Order: sequence, then C-alpha cells, then structure tokens
Amino acid sequence: MSDTNNVDIVIFGGAGDLAFRKLVPALFMAHMHDKLEGNNRIIGVGRQDWSREDYLAFINDKTRPFLKDALATADGEACWTSFLDRLHFASVDVTRAPDYLKLAALSSAGAQRVYYLATAPSLFTQICQHLDSAGLIDERARVVLEKPLGHDLASAKAINDEVAKHFNEAQIYRIDHYLGKETVQNLMVLRFGNAIFEPLWRSPNIRSVQITVAETVGVGSRAGFYDETGAMRDMVQNHLLQLLCIVAMEPPISLEPNDVRDEKLKVLRSLRPMTAVDIKRDTVRGQYQAGTVDGAPALAYLAEENVPPSSTTETFVALKAHINNARWANVPFYLRTGKRMQHRRSEIIIEFDDMPFSIFSGAANSKSNRLVISLQPEESIQLQMMVKEPGSGMNMRPVSLNLDMQSAFTERRAEAYERLLMDVVKGRLTHFMRRDELEAAWTWVEPILDGWAASGERPKPYNAGTWGPAASSALMARSEHTWFEES
Ligand code: BG6
Repeated sequence: MSDTNNVDIVIFGGAGDLAFRKLVPALFMAHMHDKLEGNNRIIGVGRQDWSREDYLAFINDKTRPFLKDALATADGEACWTSFLDRLHFASVDVTRAPDYLKLAALSSAGAQRVYYLATAPSLFTQICQHLDSAGLIDERARVVLEKPLGHDLASAKAINDEVAKHFNEAQIYRIDHYLGKETVQNLMVLRFGNAIFEPLWRSPNIRSVQITVAETVGVGSRAGFYDETGAMRDMVQNHLLQLLCIVAMEPPISLEPNDVRDEKLKVLRSLRPMTAVDIKRDTVRGQYQAGTVDGAPALAYLAEENVPPSSTTETFVALKAHINNARWANVPFYLRTGKRMQHRRSEIIIEFDDMPFSIFSGAANSKSNRLVISLQPEESIQLQMMVKEPGSGMNMRPVSLNLDMQSAFTERRAEAYERLLMDVVKGRLTHFMRRDELEAAWTWVEPILDGWAASGERPKPYNAGTWGPAASSALMARSEHTWFEES
C-alpha cells in the first residue's frame, strides 16, 4: 500500500484548461473534504515564466468561478486559503532537459510522485524521457495519461510503447473521466448487485441498447484541438465504448483491476468489425449548422473561431454496433453523441423484447419495457412498465418506476475527476483503461474513420439545437427502432 501522506501531484499543463477547470477544482474538493492528507502537494508545471505567487494568482482568478458553491459555504474561504498552501509552480519548457532540474529541486524528499500529463499527447514521450533522465521516476511513481491517447491505432501504440520504457503498466493510469462518474460506477452495481436483472440481461430478452451522450455546448475555445479530433475520436472511441463495455461485459470474478479490465477487453474484442457496406449503412456523421440552443442563437461549426471554413470534422456521430458473442447475438447497440444538440443528456436505454404472446394484443398504447439509466444532468433509473389505465376496459399505459438518486441519497456526490484523482493517489487502477483495452478500441474505430475519409463525403448538416441529422433517425428506422426521445 502506498504512503498517501506524502504525495506530490505534478500537473503538466498546469495552466491549461483542464487544470484550472477540472483538476484543481477536484483537488480542492478533496482537500475540503479531508481526502488530501497532510503533506500532499500540487505542483503545476507550465511554460510560463511565473513565480509561485503568479501561479496562485492565476489559479485564484481562473478556478474560483468553478467552485462558487463550495466557496460560499461557512468554511469555504478558509479552506481555499489552506488549499493554496499546497500549490506550487515549476516553470518548465517540457522539451528542454535542463528545465526538469527545476522540478527536481521542487520535489519533496521521499514523496511519492504522481505525474498528470494534461498536455498534448504529442508531448507525452518527451516528458517521460526527460523525467527519467532527471531521476524523477522511481518504482513508486505513477503517471496519468489524459485522452485522447493517439490519433489512431499506430500513434496510440507508439505512445504506449514509449511510456512503457519509463513506467510499468501498473504505474500507468489512462484516464477516461466517464469511468469516474458516480452513475457509471453504479451501472456495475445495478447489473451485478440485483438478481432481477442478470437473467434478463441478454439476447433475446433485450431488443436493443441505446447509448446517447448529447451536449448543448459547441466547440467553444477548443477548435484547434477539436477540429483535428472530431466526435468519433473525442467521444466514441473512449467514453461511449467504455459505457458499452460496462453494459455488455460478463460479471468479472472480482473488482480487482485486471478482472474488470479483462471483461471489458473481451467486449471490445467482440465488436463486429465494420465493412465498407456497414459503414455506409450503419454510421452517420454530422456537423452542426447555425441554430438555437437553450433559446440563444448558436453559430454554425464552420463559423466558430479557428475552425477552417472547409472543415469536414464531425461534431455528431450515430452508429449501430454489434457484439459477436452469445449474450448479445442480434442485439443492436446504438451509439450517438453530438455537440449543439437539443438537450444535455447522457443516457442508456435498455429496451426489452415484447411479450412472446400478449392477451392484450388489441389494447392501445402497448410498449415494450425499458430501463432508462440517466447519467446526467439528472441521475436516475427508470423502469418503464405497462399498467392498466383506470376505468373500464383493459387499456394500458406506460408508467415509470422512478429512482431519483438526488432524493435517494443526501451524501455529497464527488465529481469524476476528484474520485479518479484520489484513486490514483491510493493506487487503485480499476477505473482506468489498460493498454490492450485502449488498443482494442482503436482497432474497432479506425476502419470507420478510414471508411469515412475514403468516401470523401462531407458530414451531414444538422441545425444546432436539434437531435442531429435526419439520417440518424433513418438509421434506427431501418431496423424498426426509434431513438428514445422520438418514441
Ligand atoms: C471530454 C471531451 O472528454 O468530455 C469534450 O473532450 C466533452 O469534448 C466532455 O465536452 C464531456 O464530458 P462531460 O463530463 O461534460 O459529459
């Protein structure tokens, strides 16, 4: 077990978006709730020629807006002041070996070092090499790799190979923040802690699975990154496939990291590869046009700052996947994600098959049972059931059994990054991706990306504030399915 009392959390990209929006707020919340122990320190690393005071002023300015509620509590401000005591800064150009000596000088003696690489992945290799040369990696060190890890299978392998020269697999934490969400972790409990679901959780009892991660935000200030990436690499290759794994995997023999990751790997390796015909028929790429989102006008993707006017990057993906194993034979998994959609909503819909024979076949409104797992913004689980409409006759109506997590629990629910950062400090790998998982995901995704590139087709336009291009509904309709909000 690690000594969690003396840990230096070193954030490369310490002045970047992720650091001030997510990582530092997460660490503050951990501090506020006594999860960061006495000597734990946070060292931001950035190119800026800043003193420690400059960095504290920067963080004070940039991070506080993300912590409004916490800072407004009785001891919020006092906690913030004591939190800043933990914060340090090293001015390092990560491409220059001598700069790492500054980091070495700042490192506390005997501390366990956690390196969080929140930089462009193209820098990961150099950072690991220079850390090693400067003697800053020992067997207790850990490294956290932010997504996207690579642009395709070859680049992902190249990064993994390089990082593996300096850290062994048990020291590497490949983060997918969806795995840190309370509701996503709860999926495992729902599946494996409730006897009523397991016997039904398979073909032919389940007719389809839908996984949607819809966002109302556009590309914002991240066009430089996003235009090179697109929705498939940004969301499907990691977040959506990880959700699919948790829905589809066999029960792991324990919650030990490798037992869970072995099962997820099997799912990824069972994804049926898509042929050119499948790609044309079963995938849709879209790009948002101008529209209205939450009552406000929204620009077209091509009109966003720093997006090249001829960009063919997709901001929306819908696809139909199949898992080639006995549990999921003939059960389609529909995955969908997009920016500038009608609502911010992440949900998983398990649609059960109809009764094999219904004595109510003449009744109006008959619908199949569905389990609706809402991950965000509300966290809830609903089971849609058919009940008798009051009154004469035997008419039915779908009504939901509703478990609302907010009212079921009064405990504070930590954000994904807080939970995952604390996992890293404690050395818990279960909710991080193993190398082979990441590569298996790329192996499935890459031919789709290649197929799209080879087709030369532009992504289909959709108006901001809608559920995506019409082709997305048509994709479902071909198999006599509908997206949840259309049914
Ligand atoms: C990130 C993507 O990984 O996830 C972003 O890079 C996306 O483009 C974000 O907006 C969504 O995360 P969440 O937790 O807000 O659903």
